[in-house]
Amino acid sequence: MTAPIRIGILGCGKMARAMAARWLAEGACTRDDLRACTASAAGAQIVRDHLGIECGTSAADALEGADLVLLGIKPQQLADALPGLATLARPGQTWLSLLAGTPTHVLEDGLPQGISVVRCMPNTPARVGQGVLALCPGAHASAAAIDTARRLLQPLGRVVDVAEPQMDTFTAVAGCGPAYVLLFLEALAQAARDVGFAADDAQAVALQVVLGTAELARRDGRNPEVLRAEVTSKGGVTQAAIAVLEGQGWPGTLVQAVKAGVARSAELSQGK
Ligand SMILES: NC(=O)c1ccc[n+]([C@@H]2O[C@H](COP(=O)([O-])OP(=O)(O)OC[C@H]3O[C@@H](n4cnc5c(N)ncnc54)[C@H](OP(=O)(O)O)[C@@H]3O)[C@@H](O)[C@H]2O)c1
Repeated sequence: MTAPIRIGILGCGKMARAMAARWLAEGACTRDDLRACTASAAGAQIVRDHLGIECGTSAADALEGADLVLLGIKPQQLADALPGLATLARPGQTWLSLLAGTPTHVLEDGLPQGISVVRCMPNTPARVGQGVLALCPGAHASAAAIDTARRLLQPLGRVVDVAEPQMDTFTAVAGCGPAYVLLFLEALAQAARDVGFAADDAQAVALQVVLGTAELARRDGRNPEVLRAEVTSKGGVTQAAIAVLEGQGWPGTLVQAVKAGVARSAELSQGK
């Protein structure tokens, strides 16, 4: 960020904490620039312990003097919370929403005029600066607000401009993506244990396989299919293993999973 801005975090759970932790680690803002609130006193204590910032259960305190409001509650919590939050909004503020399946117009309709709404779909690797984050401005967002949001998201990973109709697909691929990769990691570690690895070795080896392969694909730049063909000799060990995955319907299963995520995100946008 070029100029310090005051950020009020409304709902500081796993995702907002991950983002704030990275901002603090990168010096993108100071603890004094951040103020947060949660629904419960226990949640506020977690925020104070993890981030060392001011946090209570009062939205009014969190938003006092805020230039930018980071909205980090769950989509299902918005309908109840929005009327009260709207009374705290101030013209000129930017509201950066993390809410899955919640179109920008829902916030624009519920907040007073003069607020810039920008939607973001982050993912948890943002905590270590390796996220991929969709940036989707609302219809009435000012150029300055979009610029501020973009500069705020950049220390968290790769920022991708996404039009609102594509936000459900981005959510199911990138927002949920870390869960797919972690499930694969769990499964590979479990498989390693099942064939005789010690538990610690299984976890460490599986993790390095995922890390090393991702880094190889990034540096090499060729299509993953080409890289996979290079390690899948005819009649070899990899081919025997991959044949089982393909025989069990994998990776088609992953396609089905992503489609289910897209459908759920679309349902959320209809308030279901
Ligand atoms: N987790 C992810 O990987 C991910 C990825 C992309 C987008 N998102 C989006 O990020 C948002 C947050 O997800 P999360 O996983 O971080 O959820 P979470 O851990 O459950 O956090 C929700 C936070 O909102 C607080 N809260 C609830 N109602 C509130 C209210 N009325 N006023 C103030 N605070 C309130 C909760 O307080 P208490 O702790 O006291 O209950 C908690 O701090 C969601 O909209 C989700 O769609 C999450």
